[in-house]
Amino acid sequence: MTQPIRLAINGASGRMGRALLALVREDKRFELVSALVSAGSPHNGDPVFPELSTSLRYAHDWSAMAAVVVDFSGPDGLSAALDFCTTHNAALVTGTTGIDTALQSKLDRASQHIPVLHAANFSLGVAVLKRLLREAAAALPDWDLEIVEAHHSRKEDAPSGTALALGHAAAEARGTTLEKDAVYVREGRPGARRNGSIGFAVVRGGDVVGEHTALLLGQGERVELSHRATDRSIFARGALETAAWLAGRKPGIYSIDNLLQERL
Ligand SMILES: NC(=O)c1ccc[n+]([C@@H]2O[C@H](COP(=O)([O-])OP(=O)(O)OC[C@H]3O[C@@H](n4cnc5c(N)ncnc54)[C@H](OP(=O)(O)O)[C@@H]3O)[C@@H](O)[C@H]2O)c1
Repeated sequence: MTQPIRLAINGASGRMGRALLALVREDKRFELVSALVSAGSPHNGDPVFPELSTSLRYAHDWSAMAAVVVDFSGPDGLSAALDFCTTHNAALVTGTTGIDTALQSKLDRASQHIPVLHAANFSLGVAVLKRLLREAAAALPDWDLEIVEAHHSRKEDAPSGTALALGHAAAEARGTTLEKDAVYVREGRPGARRNGSIGFAVVRGGDVVGEHTALLLGQGERVELSHRATDRSIFARGALETAAWLAGRKPGIYSIDNLLQERL
């Protein structure tokens, strides 16, 4: 039997960290060796699984050797994770957002020594949707393309980062860019639809976790490609899937698309 992969979770007390912990305690692929929090965390020293007999505690302590770090902490936490991974040759999966150019350069430099996978969305279903959309947008170049997304009422940005990522993928497949062809607002009398444009529509309300549909509209027929998230744990599930896949790979920058590609 293969040994479980030694895993550290950075940002372990956060929303994503806790979702990861809930999954990892049942996941035989991993041995959780660290649950990392910030130096000033109120969780420092608390048991990670109080109801189990393990002695693991939340700590700001990078001394345990891990083969892979899953990071959902923040820019400072990600920077510390990069230091650990490059020093100890560990793989890094990170979903931390708000990365500035200095941290992005550090991440790029680290990828010369360790495998790194950074994703803004860890849903494997969304990654598949993006691939399918790329193919459909290229195969049906004259069909009108509209992207509709729905999220809960508290979401502040629009369209969602995922809708924009889908739009970018479709635009690239058609040899154009969103800067050139996206239409984000239609109001009053915007006139007839411009050929080749990529329209976005946004729904906000209730507790919708996240829904994205790409509509390819032809004459007398249409294709609809949809993804519906019903549970936030999909991001944690996807991050663990990529961590198991990334551990032990050669240095470089990887994407979820690389993982999917291997399955085809
Ligand atoms: N890619 C995706 O699919 C995805 C999905 C959701 C969220 N995210 C991103 O992931 C990050 C975390 O999201 P979240 O919703 O889990 O946020 P959160 O609930 O605020 O959790 C982040 C946790 O990181 C800990 N932390 C802060 N500084 C740290 C440091 N220097 N070292 C170690 N731990 C540190 C904090 O806990 P203590 O105060 O206890 O240290 C905090 O609870 C954000 O950047 C978010 O945008 C990405």
